[in-house]
Amino acid sequence: MPLVTSKLMLEQARQGRYAVGAFNANNLEMVQAIIEAAEEEQAPVIVQLSEGAIRYGGLEYLAAIVRTGAELASVPVVLHFDHGASFESNMRCLRAGFTSLMFDGSAKPFEENVATTALIARAAHACGIPVEAELGQVLQSRDNVSSTQVASAMTDPTLAGEFVRRSGCDSLAIAVGSVHAMLEREAELDIDRVKACAAATSVPLVLHGSSGVKHASVQAAIECGIAKVNVGTYLADGFTEVMRSETASHPNEPDPRKVLAPAREEVKRRVREKIRLFGSSGKAISAQSSRQFPAAASGPQQAFKPIE
Ligand code: G3H
Ligand code: ZN
Repeated sequence: MPLVTSKLMLEQARQGRYAVGAFNANNLEMVQAIIEAAEEEQAPVIVQLSEGAIRYGGLEYLAAIVRTGAELASVPVVLHFDHGASFESNMRCLRAGFTSLMFDGSAKPFEENVATTALIARAAHACGIPVEAELGQVLQSRDNVSSTQVASAMTDPTLAGEFVRRSGCDSLAIAVGSVHAMLEREAELDIDRVKACAAATSVPLVLHGSSGVKHASVQAAIECGIAKVNVGTYLADGFTEVMRSETASHPNEPDPRKVLAPAREEVKRRVREKIRLFGSSGKAISAQSSRQFPAAASGPQQAFKPIE
């Protein structure tokens, strides 16, 4: 089916107390693995491209691969822009046909984060496309962050309510104890903070940096309002781990497909594992009605003056 937007997909997940997996892809094989896994699990799925992935694979190339995968699939697929750094990069993705955007202004002052998110949301909503924002900061493990730094970067629930109201964002990424790009599953989330953010806001909440979070903690957060869980490092690590071992066992093999095919299988296995953990297996049917963003459903025509 054609790409769908993340708007109703995430609202349904929030109401149903499950989360949609949002998986980072960098190439054809990863996109195929993600969509095939979702198909086998009959789960709605979000394929997300970061600024780095787009720099590597090309905006039009990667968007076309995801769009084709969605059209061949029977489950709903969203093409999401992950950690968009600017108004400009978000507008390029909007033009390229992304069905979900993100502005990550988490490192910026509060007022600037609100203002840029609101600007992007205004443009995106005019085209029927929802926008994720981030408040509080999910830090990077490469910066060797201490637990004190992680704690002090967490989302303030009272600001979260104000941020959502003023920015008009459709979903909110919150910092509740995870750290991006962890290779070991060691982090525990601050579940009381997830609850407080859910109580203070009216939108689905997003967990970033899930690769390093203990499974029980992810599930507890989903129970309390997390409706989208981002997974990047766990997939990239599986892909490269298998490529390394295949190359080591067949050092003279000249055909890259012999290395890439088992790497793709490993990513698929990991995506299926996460989809089951997030409780979204079998939820594809209920998410099918999310083809249209409500603003678009009431008609982009409404944005134009009547014929005179
Ligand atoms: O935006 C992407 C995610 O937050 C991925 O985080 O690589 O730690 O799983 P991760
Ligand atoms: Zn992230």
